[in-house]
Amino acid sequence: MKATAKAHTNIALIKYWGKRNDELILPTNNSLSLTLDGFYTTTTVDFQEDLKEDYFELDGEPVMGEAYKRVTAFLDLIRRMADKEDLFARVKSYNQVPTAAGFASSASGFAALTAAATKAIGLDLSDTELSRLTRQGSGSSSRSIYGGFAEWEMGEKEDGSDSYAVPIASENHWDVRMAGVVLTSKMKKISSRAGMRRTVETSPFYEGWLKSIPEDLSQIKKAISDKDFTRLGEIAEANCLKMHATSLAAKPPFTYWIDSTIRVMQQVQEMREQGIPAYFTIDAGPNVKVLYLPEYEEQVERILREVPGVTDVILSKPGPGVSYL
Ligand code: PMV
Repeated sequence: MKATAKAHTNIALIKYWGKRNDELILPTNNSLSLTLDGFYTTTTVDFQEDLKEDYFELDGEPVMGEAYKRVTAFLDLIRRMADKEDLFARVKSYNQVPTAAGFASSASGFAALTAAATKAIGLDLSDTELSRLTRQGSGSSSRSIYGGFAEWEMGEKEDGSDSYAVPIASENHWDVRMAGVVLTSKMKKISSRAGMRRTVETSPFYEGWLKSIPEDLSQIKKAISDKDFTRLGEIAEANCLKMHATSLAAKPPFTYWIDSTIRVMQQVQEMREQGIPAYFTIDAGPNVKVLYLPEYEEQVERILREVPGVTDVILSKPGPGVSYL
């Protein structure tokens, strides 16, 4: 009863920002992402009859506390589905992603865990079923089931049965690149979960954010199908700024940005003035991701590495969906 799965992280170009149901993780808007080749999690789940509780190890270190509870609570869902409620597992994960610094390690982490655990316990789930299930571990992981561009449809039903991701274009459709600009590997102070909640409950800008999503989505899907890089970048960058604006207007206000976040944003805008098409997006953390085209890779990397405060630049192509090893 053992299986290993690999899942890649994804970066949202139209952000998921806010829940209508915290427990089932049902969002208030559709989101759309690019799955990345360079960042992934590999997870082995081994259910063993003689275990009295789950055991979870990340990058060779035992994990306790909140992160452990999140994993066991999620395994409970899978045990219930398989009707094997007293079967516990050894879970070993390896992250090729800086954990919890805005590189969405929870997306690749939960997608790999879902695929490995369901396979190990003998459930044979479709991609749609995997996406719907992993959503309950981490919302953004619903999109990591697919390679390339994927859209998480918020759905309408209260039980979440119609809230899962669908593929928009595979990793082979269009070679757009993304640079992960690493500024700090420190754990963030406000989790995406807490940040979303405060924003939904208190930000007067939240309503405007929600109203703007359908237009952003239809425009970006057209840009993807037409391979129109300028449109893609403009919509993604503006969508990211709108998301971060909602948190600046929350009570109390907060931001995930640090000084070097803003320096990188300005550098990207300067690149465009010099004729290099590049656009940024930022999640619930200080690090910046930069969208660019392959022919500008060398220039983009060199310029980003020179920005004060940048500790690393990790380049990535579009990546594949979840797979079993
Ligand atoms: O799924 P979570 O709880 O890691 O939330 C992710 C939220 C953002 O990264 C900010 C946006 C997104 O759509 O991935």
